[in-house]
Amino acid sequence: MTVNLTLNGEIRTFFGDPRTSLLDVLRETFRLTGTKPVCREGFCGACVVHIDGLAVPSCLRPIGLLQGASVTTIEGLAQVDALNALQLAFKDQDVVQCGMCFPGMVMTLSKFQETNPTPSRAEIKAAMIGNICRCTGYERIVDAVLSMQSRENAQ
Ligand code: FES
Ligand code: FES
Repeated sequence: MTVNLTLNGEIRTFFGDPRTSLLDVLRETFRLTGTKPVCREGFCGACVVHIDGLAVPSCLRPIGLLQGASVTTIEGLAQVDALNALQLAFKDQDVVQCGMCFPGMVMTLSKFQETNPTPSRAEIKAAMIGNICRCTGYERIVDAVLSMQSRENAQ
């Protein structure tokens, strides 16, 4: 099957088994390895990307259902030398440990912030319910989001 989609702003074409997960297409066909494979069952959130404006686990999306879709990955959100505000907040708060969960966290929280730019601590925690981190406590992640928020409000 041939699937055309917009990936990080560029038209890309996949040829192959339509049952292949978007996660595997991203990593193996397009070499976008920022999206992480962890549970592959939709539970951990490590593989979250944006599909047509929604934050969703890419391991649960067969590529065959994504004809014409618009997909943004962590690579499309910001560049290494120009991190977005959320990534900078994580870096400043020294939150990241192994890093496997963080691309998914950033994708989930960046979409959440579009709908709720001034969330409370409880709302941030609720938004992260589908993102599991095995290394660090969640409090510092919430601190990072709140610190970014107060920095942006001060500008
Ligand atoms: S790898 Fe997709 S949700 Fe865990
Ligand atoms: S930093 Fe290791 S899983 Fe979150």
